[in-house]
This record gives sequence, structure tokens and C-alpha cells, in this order.
Amino acid sequence: MEKRDLLYEGKAKKIYATDQEETVWIQYKDSATAFNGEKKAEINGKSVLNNEISSFIFAKLKEKGIDSHFIEKLSDTEQLVKRVSIIPLEVVVRNVLAGSLSKRLGLPEGIVFEKPIVEFYYKDDALGDPLINEDHIQILKAASLEEIEFLKKTALEINVFLQELFLSCGVKLIDFKLEFGKDQDGEILLADEISPDTCRLWDLETNEKMDKDVFRRDLGNLTDAYQTILNRLRGESAHV
Ligand code: C5P
Repeated sequence: MEKRDLLYEGKAKKIYATDQEETVWIQYKDSATAFNGEKKAEINGKSVLNNEISSFIFAKLKEKGIDSHFIEKLSDTEQLVKRVSIIPLEVVVRNVLAGSLSKRLGLPEGIVFEKPIVEFYYKDDALGDPLINEDHIQILKAASLEEIEFLKKTALEINVFLQELFLSCGVKLIDFKLEFGKDQDGEILLADEISPDTCRLWDLETNEKMDKDVFRRDLGNLTDAYQTILNRLRGESAHV
């Protein structure tokens, strides 16, 4: 497998072509950004942790029959994934009120929902990734009604799996963001990453934050928090 031209550089990853039409080479970066890129920092070791955590979760999902773009981890900071064309939607699942929804509703973080909430955001930096509804998605031609239903159903299945996985190591899954893409056959696949950059994760007993809010809100050392998540997932310090 050969790494070829840089295709795209995002806030947290670089994407390279390979010598195969159907794959791309992802390089995780140490950059951390928040608030639509307004807050930025280089955090040594973040790329290694997110690559490891995301690879671990994608592999576990595959065991459960939920396929993603993930093929294999190539190095500490790199993954080989299927080439997909990203659907310009961020699919957010929420189990507990936090973040932007807490602000929008004017209610305190921590309220547990009776059932999970699914939201869609339009991936457009210039617009600031606005919250949109199913009618808007169809006007934008980002996805058909059938595809929207598929995205929701899959996001909720992933939520059940992730909640269980994190709970088994003493972590509450508050909310998370998914991205999906279409492969060359038009099949929708889970893409991007699942890591503490894209999830809110709170300690089951203390509610300590172990995710990107540590960076967003200056709560302490980000890599220590991500390392704790990785160790717990690996069962090295399994919570009983
Ligand atoms: O900011 P908000 O509360 O809407 O975020 C909901 C969830 O989606 C959080 O877990 C956050 O980390 C994730 N998210 C993300 N990328 C974005 C926006 C939100 O990973 N661009």
C-alpha cells in the first residue's frame, strides 16, 4: 500500500490517496479546534490516542455487524479506510442534555432523556454547521427521506452499542456525532471517527468530563483524559 497525494486537510485529519481507487489513507493530527475553529491548539499525543480509540471502536462495531469505512490501523497515527463521498450532515445523538442543546433550551446540563434524541447539522463551515430538520435536508438534497430514516436508525443502533461499551468501563455516553459517506456502489457507510473528540463522556460516578470539553472549557489535561478512556476501553483499569 502506498501513500499518494494529499486529497484534503481537515481540522483534525489529513486524507491522502493511495495506489488503490477504493481506499484512502487517513492521518490523524495533533491539532485541537473548538467553536468552529475559533479556539485552536496543538496537543502532543492527541492523534495517537484518537487513532487508537477510533480504530478500537470501529473494530468492535464491525464485530456487532455495524460496518464502517475502517479497514485497518496502519501506524500510531494512520488508518486505511474505504473511500466514500461524505454526506454533508453531522448526525448527533443525545442521551443526556449538554452542550449546544443545553444552551438552546436554557436548561442545565445533566438532564437524562427518556429516549435518545437525534439531530442533524448541515456540514458547512461558512454557515457555522446549522441545526436543520428533515425538510431542510431534502431541500438541500443532502439525503432522501429514505436515507434520513436509515441514518437515524443506524445512529440509534450505534448509540445502543456505544452506551453499553462505555458503561461496561464506567463511562456515561452523554452525546456524540457521527458522519456517514457513500461508497462507490452507493451504499451508506459510517465514516469519519468515533473518539473523545466527537463524544461527550462522563465518569459514571463523579461525572468528571473525559472528552473534548476538557479542551473547550479549559478543564485540565486533555491527553490524560483521553488516555483514561483508552485504558478503560482496553480493560486495563476496568471499572467494577
Ligand atoms: O456542541 P454540541 O452539544 O451540539 O455537540 C454534540 C456532540 O457532537 C458532542 O459530543 C460534540 O463533541 C459532537 N460534535 C462534534 N463535531 C461537531 C459538533 C459536535 O464532534 N462539529
